[in-house]
Amino acid sequence: MIGVFDSGFGGLVVLREFLRLLPDYDYLYLGDNARIPYGTRSDRVVIRFTEQAVDYLFRQGCRLIVLACHTASARALRRIQQVWLPARYPGLRVLGVLIPTVEEAVARTRGKHIGVIATEGTVTSQSFELELKKLDPEVAVVQQACPLLVPIIESGEQEWEGTTLILRRYLAPFQGRVDTLILGCTHYSILKEQIRAILGPGHELICSGQVTAAKLVDYLHRHPEMETRLSRGGTRRYLTTDLTPRFAQLASLFMGHPLSSELVEL
Ligand code: DGL
Repeated sequence: MIGVFDSGFGGLVVLREFLRLLPDYDYLYLGDNARIPYGTRSDRVVIRFTEQAVDYLFRQGCRLIVLACHTASARALRRIQQVWLPARYPGLRVLGVLIPTVEEAVARTRGKHIGVIATEGTVTSQSFELELKKLDPEVAVVQQACPLLVPIIESGEQEWEGTTLILRRYLAPFQGRVDTLILGCTHYSILKEQIRAILGPGHELICSGQVTAAKLVDYLHRHPEMETRLSRGGTRRYLTTDLTPRFAQLASLFMGHPLSSELVEL
């Protein structure tokens, strides 16, 4: 199976794109809804939670896992790839959403002025700025942490007029300063049209879902040794660490259709 992990619902927008481009594989989604948000937590905690989630998915039979969470990709992925995986599951793979998003932004920027909105943890890690400048040292990067957006989205308040005010405030530093904006948190794609309306035309918006799905297609082509280990039964299972009354409504908003989830303990 291909495992897809996020701290909550955001990763469903990434999974949605995987299912569009690669529908034949078996997928296992895990949302750590009991412990969201990751974006305000320390490195130590994000690493521990992400390792527990990845370990759980491997024990369920996943061979390849995508961290569909920018916070986990920015703060835990390197350590998992370099230290944890070789010791615990050599031969299995964990990929993230950050590098595909960065590559796409560098390919699409016309003026080399790139903005990033993300969780506090992702912005503090400086991962986007470092990776963008690694690919193109000439890009200028403006970052803005948006700590209120995940709680707003997770409470289903994306249509609330207060959301527009908050977005205007968060997006003010980018006006006239960037030609490309990375939505550096998988949750934010729910607000994509509002963000586009505030920024105005002429801005490229980069969302990790489509971009990561295209990179996954490419990865599987380049890695037949992994591709042949993935089962192709077209099944999808959704796991969560918490099932609240609002769960069904939010899952359906992110996924685009209702889904039934199983409650698990990591
Ligand atoms: N989905 C997570 C991300 O992409 C954000 C939510 C959180 O703070 O846990 O960064």
